[in-house]
Amino acid sequence: MVVEDLTLLSDDANYRDTLQTYLKYMEQLPPQKLWMKEELGPRIAKLFEAKKEIRVLAVGTGTGEVDVDFLAEITKRGREVHGEDYSVVYQVVEPNPESVEYFKGVVTKDDNLSKVTFQWFTGFFDPFCEEFKKTASKDTRFDFAHYVRCTYHIDSVSALQVTYEHLLRKNGVVAVVGENENAFWPRMMPFLAKHEMKHECFTCSGPVSDAYFLPGWKKQAETNGWKFDVWIKKYNFNITLMYDPESKPGNYLIDFALHGKNCRQTISKVVLDDFFELLNAHSHEEEVEVEGVKEKRRHYPCELGAIMITKE
Ligand SMILES: C[S@@+](CC[C@H](N)C(=O)[O-])C[C@H]1O[C@@H](n2cnc3c(N)ncnc32)[C@H](O)[C@@H]1O
Repeated sequence: MVVEDLTLLSDDANYRDTLQTYLKYMEQLPPQKLWMKEELGPRIAKLFEAKKEIRVLAVGTGTGEVDVDFLAEITKRGREVHGEDYSVVYQVVEPNPESVEYFKGVVTKDDNLSKVTFQWFTGFFDPFCEEFKKTASKDTRFDFAHYVRCTYHIDSVSALQVTYEHLLRKNGVVAVVGENENAFWPRMMPFLAKHEMKHECFTCSGPVSDAYFLPGWKKQAETNGWKFDVWIKKYNFNITLMYDPESKPGNYLIDFALHGKNCRQTISKVVLDDFFELLNAHSHEEEVEVEGVKEKRRHYPCELGAIMITKE
């Protein structure tokens, strides 16, 4: 008998639809952009005030959507400080070759990035570090490094340690962006562990660890005596459609959370009931206005968490 693989990653096309649905209803991008503008931007301007070229390390970029926002902020600050006389070296480290190709396609068409030289490493972070360390010097180390929502795949403790000690130059900044403790995923993590459900996001630092979220990054910075700033911002996960068994997007959202395929049909009732109990415990109904029309939504409150650590 052939047993069907019911993990989310077993079906590429279905996974893409599920992820797109998740990104639409998890409203994390607006606060992330605000962090770039209000917190990161002034730090980048400071880096440019000290020199005309800055070197940036972008780890786990995926297809580069978030990097396009980073690049817009970085080039804006470069222009503000130096006019047209600035430059950026942007080193990408991403193991998925299709994502890298897509990212290349987007940035090579963009005329606003004429001052940016891209360097591409299609591979994992560890081999990149090994290569980099062989020839690292004060001229090649980075002024700014970022890890956005990739500490589910890369152990943040070792990644931050190696970044601080070997990859950053003096006064350089490393930023990690993801969730604070009062968000959806930090609550899902013990839920998944309790039900012994495998999830690709909670393996690299164990099934339950604060290394995936802001409290862990902050603790590491404090333990090491590093200089750091944290930023948190509330946002919502719109979970309204999860309550409609007939809703395709609603079922995609459940699948993304539980990391399975057709979870409403394929996982046990006990787990599904527990999942809705977790949703009910923290979410609330709100009336919102969308294009002039009032509608009721159920929101799960989340918190974006970001840390910037400065190398001294
Ligand atoms: C959740 S995605 C985040 C993508 C992007 N930073 C964003 O915020 O939209 C995590 C990314 O980390 C990449 N990744 C996984 N393991 C990695 C590793 N060891 N080194 C570098 N990147 C890795 C994955 O391929 C994926 O593109």
